[in-house]
Amino acid sequence: MSKKHSKEQKAEPTLDFNSKLKYAAAPESASIANIKKQYDLYINGAWVKPAKGQYFETHSPANEQLLSKVAMAGAEDVDKAVKAARTAYEKVWSKMPAKERAKYIFRIARIIQERARELAVVESLDGGKPIRESRDIDIPLAANHFFYYAGWADKLEYAFPGRKPEPLGVAGQIIPWNFPLLMAAWKIAPALATGNTVVLKPAETTPLTALKLAEIIHDAGLPPGVVNIVTGAGATGAALVNHPDIDKVAFTGSTEVGKIIQKALAGTGKKLTLELGGKAANIIFEDAAIDQAVEGVVNGIFFNQGHVCCAGSRLFVQESVANKVIRKLKDRMESLVVGDPLDKNTDVGAINSAEQLKKIQEYLKIGVNEGAEMFQPSCSIPSKGYFCKPTLFLHTSQSHRIVQEEIFGPVLAIQTFRTVEEVIEKANNTPFGLSAGVWTDKGSRIFTLTTQMKAGVVWANTYNKFDPVSPFGGYKESGFGREGGLHGLLPYLKLA
Ligand code: NAI
Ligand code: MG
Repeated sequence: MSKKHSKEQKAEPTLDFNSKLKYAAAPESASIANIKKQYDLYINGAWVKPAKGQYFETHSPANEQLLSKVAMAGAEDVDKAVKAARTAYEKVWSKMPAKERAKYIFRIARIIQERARELAVVESLDGGKPIRESRDIDIPLAANHFFYYAGWADKLEYAFPGRKPEPLGVAGQIIPWNFPLLMAAWKIAPALATGNTVVLKPAETTPLTALKLAEIIHDAGLPPGVVNIVTGAGATGAALVNHPDIDKVAFTGSTEVGKIIQKALAGTGKKLTLELGGKAANIIFEDAAIDQAVEGVVNGIFFNQGHVCCAGSRLFVQESVANKVIRKLKDRMESLVVGDPLDKNTDVGAINSAEQLKKIQEYLKIGVNEGAEMFQPSCSIPSKGYFCKPTLFLHTSQSHRIVQEEIFGPVLAIQTFRTVEEVIEKANNTPFGLSAGVWTDKGSRIFTLTTQMKAGVVWANTYNKFDPVSPFGGYKESGFGREGGLHGLLPYLKLA
């Protein structure tokens, strides 16, 4: 690094976050959660016991306490749900005027809003994410997705002028644990708006908000069988994917399972969308508003404990500002509050499961063994539950596993760069291509990067911003198909 640059970096004052500052606990009350001791399957508009009588437990990852027992759906139950969805599709939903369909979807959105606090608390209890995020992001966005697609239901001909859009039939939808209610909304809302019926399987560690959504759908008066919720693990998902009477599969989760599903569907004629992993690059140029960029990077990787497919898990900093950015990042990390997801002060909540924590901890070891320098803030983490300190890796290189592989935890790998060409090449050099972030003052540079980055979403001078209107999805091993916006209608339609 040149002398001139190191001089500049010294002159820059650092923000004083006062790492010793302690906030009084501000816990959101769990009393509103109203979680039943046991949940059955929601099939054909009724709560149905699983054929084999099996149930599994769902726990709070923050304190390992049992929250509820949930039905384990087997192939017979999945079959029952698909049959209900088929009948509802043929007899009711596909025949209903689109304007009427829209009213039901609108009603779901309204009830989500009415029960927003309850849903936020349950999301944080079951999944471990900070209440601030479930309250301000997950739940309002879930409601907005239903509102948005309610609006499209009777306007499909305008979305695809000159074509005749028709529904596919029954959609089998499988979702992960990182945004449980939001992913359910992303899947169900466009399917219903386009006239399809649904069988949805939530993730085994976070089934509760999907079951609350079943209650909401019931209260909204949807005709029986239009939406069915079947809980269970991988085998339940596989039974759904392989059911012969499904017309479409929508999956969000690991690249590994995505590949299994793609193979299983080859030659079946079932339509498929996959939203898989990511290894997004956040790129900071020397002319960026540095404090804003640092805040964006922190938000991009530590938000939701890094359990975000589009998490900005790689950071590329232009060499001339690297020291400054790293110093500010470390300072900001010192001020992050890690702990109880229900505490409104919490920035980083609990890792979703013991299994996921183990995976992250293995990657921390891998990073150290690969020769990268690890930094973690001095905060303490709760002794019970699954927690991981926000972690930074310095001196990493393209070949490191922590740079190439998805960790899905609060772990950031930093590299430096000198030129635009170099950083584009490095940022694109992973098997994934879901998202990226660019921080610079130059509009032309933003356009250069957005056109050359192989990523479905590129944020400029911001990160992790979502809106129902804008499509989301990946390149390469991040999957295919888009969710959200007008594009999100297409996977659920055939255009005659
Ligand atoms: P996963 O892909 O196994 O689980 C996602 C969903 O797929 C769950 O509902 C699960 O029950 C279901 N599933 C599992 N096996 C299936 C099969 N053979 N057929 C049909 N459905 C099946 O993901 P997992 O094991 O929970 O997490 C592993 C890694 O995957 C994470 O560490 C992370 O790297 C990545 N991941 C990515 C997500 C994303 O949003 N892109 C979300 C969750 C995990
Ligand atoms: Mg759980």
